[in-house]
Amino acid sequence: MPTSAPLRLLFATSEIAPWVKTGGLGDVAAALPEALHRSGMDVRVLVPAYPAMKAAFPLAHTLVGIAAPGGLLPPCRILEASAPSGLTIWLLDCPELFIRPGGPYQTPDGPDWPDNPLRFALLSRVAAILSSDASPLEWRPQIVHGNDWQTGLIPAYLHFMPGRRPRTVMTIHNLAFQGNFPQQWLSDLGLPWDAWHLEGAEFHGYLSFLKAGLYYCDRITTVSPTYAREICSDELGFGMAGLLQHRAPVLSGILNGIDDAVWNPADDSSLAAAYDGEHLEGKAANKAELQRLMGLAVTPEKPLLGVVSRLTHQKGLDWVAAVGEQLVQAGMQLAVLGSGDKGLQGAFSDLAQRYPDSVGVRIGYDEGLSHQIEAGADIFLMPSRFEPCGLNQMYSLRYGTPPLVRPTGGLADTVTDCNDATLANGSATGFVMPGADAEALLSTVYRAVARWRDKDGWRALQRNGMARDFSWTRAAQSYLALYRQLA
Ligand code: ADP
Ligand code: GLC
Repeated sequence: MPTSAPLRLLFATSEIAPWVKTGGLGDVAAALPEALHRSGMDVRVLVPAYPAMKAAFPLAHTLVGIAAPGGLLPPCRILEASAPSGLTIWLLDCPELFIRPGGPYQTPDGPDWPDNPLRFALLSRVAAILSSDASPLEWRPQIVHGNDWQTGLIPAYLHFMPGRRPRTVMTIHNLAFQGNFPQQWLSDLGLPWDAWHLEGAEFHGYLSFLKAGLYYCDRITTVSPTYAREICSDELGFGMAGLLQHRAPVLSGILNGIDDAVWNPADDSSLAAAYDGEHLEGKAANKAELQRLMGLAVTPEKPLLGVVSRLTHQKGLDWVAAVGEQLVQAGMQLAVLGSGDKGLQGAFSDLAQRYPDSVGVRIGYDEGLSHQIEAGADIFLMPSRFEPCGLNQMYSLRYGTPPLVRPTGGLADTVTDCNDATLANGSATGFVMPGADAEALLSTVYRAVARWRDKDGWRALQRNGMARDFSWTRAAQSYLALYRQLA
């Protein structure tokens, strides 16, 4: 029987873990293409050749050069590299735009690079070229899949290009980031005036990368079913609810997975001790190690609350800072790893200074410590105001550290509140706040700690979460089905 040729996919992203990552997008862009590659798809990942990417792939060879593709967009070339799994990675090499200190989007001091429109329009433009008749290569994708605003112009460029075109998918990882820039960029980026339209790339007088993507693409996905509904409401639609309601027939939510090889408490080199659902003893050693690392009193008696997060309004951690003192007075400990908002950094650091035995704070980014917090904490705090998917609550479920969350986005889709009924029927996995304020947070922490004191019930709760399957295999199957439908 003839086997059908593998589906060809170009996956464009502005970050990819472990090399370039500011949040969950980097994790997803690393794990999803790998899972699709394993399932037999013919995948190329297109990502800017930042310094970290060049260092990671010193043997990458030049595949093709691309002449200046219009507007102020400079010429560039594609370097081809191969991940250990055999997955092909295409590095978009343009040193004047991507070889810089700092993060993928920001200068070392924090502000955004002023030429971000140019940088990410080039990423989008090159993805469009490589997947159309304009490509200098023979290989053409049937599907091009963009992620967030940084790749939002792909469907727009393709819309105005002649010849055959692939089908396009845009994934919203976070609608709060839209890539809105002054109108003058339109011609600088080589977009035609026809794109400057309410039904196009114009958004309240700005050129919006994300809106362009959502308007011109064939399919829109977001990273959880609940978030797919929420973004159609004024409250969480960030001004784009109308467009998303209009596009609802092609909008769906696919819950992210987690990399269960990287996040596996039974085999994690960052941990003080290995453990699994059947052998939870190792968790105590991890708690002691975390207390030691954070300079806290080393004791099994105090409930230890963990946080690993970008410190931004989205994450609701201002509520944690607001009740920090009460948590300490009630005999709890707090371990916080994160960076971002200066006010929040200051509030947590101040708490740690006043209560060094009870509050440990690390401002910065630390992969190893993030694993140790997932393993060493008793309860993981993630009271997000909104959360498209969220990965940390899934990591904490897998690490036997029940998460405390708000019922929003992916948190609503992955965490089941613990009460007598859900504990009895085996569905309880964490704690869900009844409201969106510091008081709701505090009462839910008290409720969680009361459960923690019942050791048998707690073990059952831990095991429920640890038994959940959040592997990428499931999510990759959903994407594959969507690609097949489209192609
Ligand atoms: P978001 O993408 O909104 O930041 P997610 O929960 O989807 O939220 O993903 C966050 C990812 O970034 C997780 O892998 C988390 O462990 C990681 N992370 C966030 N802050 C830090 C930090 N300070 N140090 C290490 N890892 C972090
Ligand atoms: C965004 C969201 C987060 C999601 C991640 C990966 O950063 O804030 O909820 O998990 O993207 O999709």
